[in-house]
Amino acid sequence: MCGIVGYLGEREVVPLLIDGLRKMEYRGYDSAGVVVVRDHALAAVKAEGKLDRLVERLAQHPLHGLYGLGHTRWATHGAPSERNAHPVLDSRRRLALIHNGIIENFLELKRRLIGEGFTFSSDTDTEVVANLISSYLDGDLHAAVERARRELEGLYAFAVVSAESPEGEIIAVRQGPPLILGRGQEGRNEQFLASDPAALLAYTRDVVFLENGDLARLRRGSIEIWDKGGQPIERPTQRLNWDPIQAEKGGYKHFMLKEIHEQPQALQDTFGGRVDFETGEIHFDTLHLDRPTAAGLSRIHVLACGTSWHAALIGKFMIEELARLPVEVDYGSEYRYRDPIVDSSVLALGVSQSGETADTLSAMEAAKERGARLFAICNVLGSQATRISEGVVYTHAGPEIGVASTKAFTTQLVAFYQFALYLRQMRGMALEPAHLQALAHLPQAVTQALEQEQHLEEMARRHFRAENFLYLGRGINYPIALEGALKLKEISYIHAEGYPAGEMKHGPIALIDEHLPVVAIATGARVFDKVKSNMQEVKARDGKVIALTDRDPADLGVQVDEVIRVPRVHELLQPIVNVVPLQLLAYFIGLRRGADVDQPRNLAKSVTVE
Ligand code: F6R
Repeated sequence: MCGIVGYLGEREVVPLLIDGLRKMEYRGYDSAGVVVVRDHALAAVKAEGKLDRLVERLAQHPLHGLYGLGHTRWATHGAPSERNAHPVLDSRRRLALIHNGIIENFLELKRRLIGEGFTFSSDTDTEVVANLISSYLDGDLHAAVERARRELEGLYAFAVVSAESPEGEIIAVRQGPPLILGRGQEGRNEQFLASDPAALLAYTRDVVFLENGDLARLRRGSIEIWDKGGQPIERPTQRLNWDPIQAEKGGYKHFMLKEIHEQPQALQDTFGGRVDFETGEIHFDTLHLDRPTAAGLSRIHVLACGTSWHAALIGKFMIEELARLPVEVDYGSEYRYRDPIVDSSVLALGVSQSGETADTLSAMEAAKERGARLFAICNVLGSQATRISEGVVYTHAGPEIGVASTKAFTTQLVAFYQFALYLRQMRGMALEPAHLQALAHLPQAVTQALEQEQHLEEMARRHFRAENFLYLGRGINYPIALEGALKLKEISYIHAEGYPAGEMKHGPIALIDEHLPVVAIATGARVFDKVKSNMQEVKARDGKVIALTDRDPADLGVQVDEVIRVPRVHELLQPIVNVVPLQLLAYFIGLRRGADVDQPRNLAKSVTVE
């Protein structure tokens, strides 16, 4: 979704803004722009499409200055076009503004501002904010923003600069989507602002996460923050532990491929340090869930979207089996529109890579309002999901740049497994040595699954022209069928469906013919024979079966067309190994079809609007 970056200091600002925007490209966008303030004048350059277009424009119309703002826009109000790109200037050209989110009452405000003589040249809700602030601007930008923001409804974040500020300042407001301030290095008179830590890593690791309702003023020598009541407030400076190198492609053709290969390490980083193999116990330093709370739980509500929702479906199997607690899994976008039964014996668990997905956050807030104890599984330190929760299980996946989630998903699964074991321990049931040994073996098993890469590349060559794909799985691997299908849809734009294998005969079997590749996940013991029968049903109708299995193909009991071999691990961890070849298959099919695998069309990395 939209990316916000700002800088105020002693360096040429445009290269810095472009660099910050490039680091946020992975979030998805359809236009971009920058504004520079110099000699009490605003100069903006914008372009529809990718950042390279903006860079070409800037080569034709160079901008110089020491402070300004940059933006990548993912269209919500108004088509993706240069006209609607940010920064947006007010109609009196006194200030420029960049914005993420939605102003819900923009039409009402727009009518009023037109009545006051302001004009509008875009279809955006952003321009309403620019004109509203301008209507109150009387030499003090902070005061004008403070007044204007009281009239805005919705979830948004914005940053604004004015040609009239005597010494240079950026004012930023957070009311929903994330905003992070970066403190310049020692001896440098500079400050940064961004919507994503990735944009700041190359310049500073010392950041301040704004809270909802905060208004910040950045000047060369200072950062000041006011809370939603307008009172000055101190927010702590935190040190980002992400390595900037992790946000580079490191020799891989795409971030997605790099991130698929990072999984053994990411899994190890996620479970390592939390397992005491000697005492046979699990520890979490950031979860803060004590024994009486765990003992008093009646059920768990897991709230998530997209791939994180698939992780939640698998987490349900883990928690129910290991901790013997009933689990409900909801889409964030559905939960708060039903009437869930919640009280203080319910543990609500938000699962989110970014920690900024608006639907998940709203569901988490709804659960909390109804009395649930709120916790999160999250990858991003300091993100909103972590801040509204009592405790967090961090997935130490590092920055995930490819829009399609890979390592974030598998680390969520391992986090779920540990969380389930922890609940088991806290509820007075012993952990078995096999539970922990299974973890120790996991990175090695995923490395082995990755060795199928060439085989999957060849498989992609045989199937990349398919128009449809069906993925079948049962039990704990049904969500892996959903995830395999989602990866293929996102990356290759091929229509794909994930289905519980046993349900196929109740409908989708009508789709089977010699053109439909069917990926059947046939691992484990519990439902293996059942999946064998389902594969036979497909073959009997001339379907093409690709079996993903931990068995010798001779044991499949049916002549399948192709086989993907995976190592066998503990049944609760098998989905982690199984999904890896499906990520690679989607990647290679997408590549063959010429799709932009790191930034698929219409998708955004973190969806900060509802
Ligand atoms: C799919 C994908 C999305 C996200 C979803 C939730 O590959 O990445 O479906 O999983 O938008 O995002 P987070 O986990 O950041 O809340």
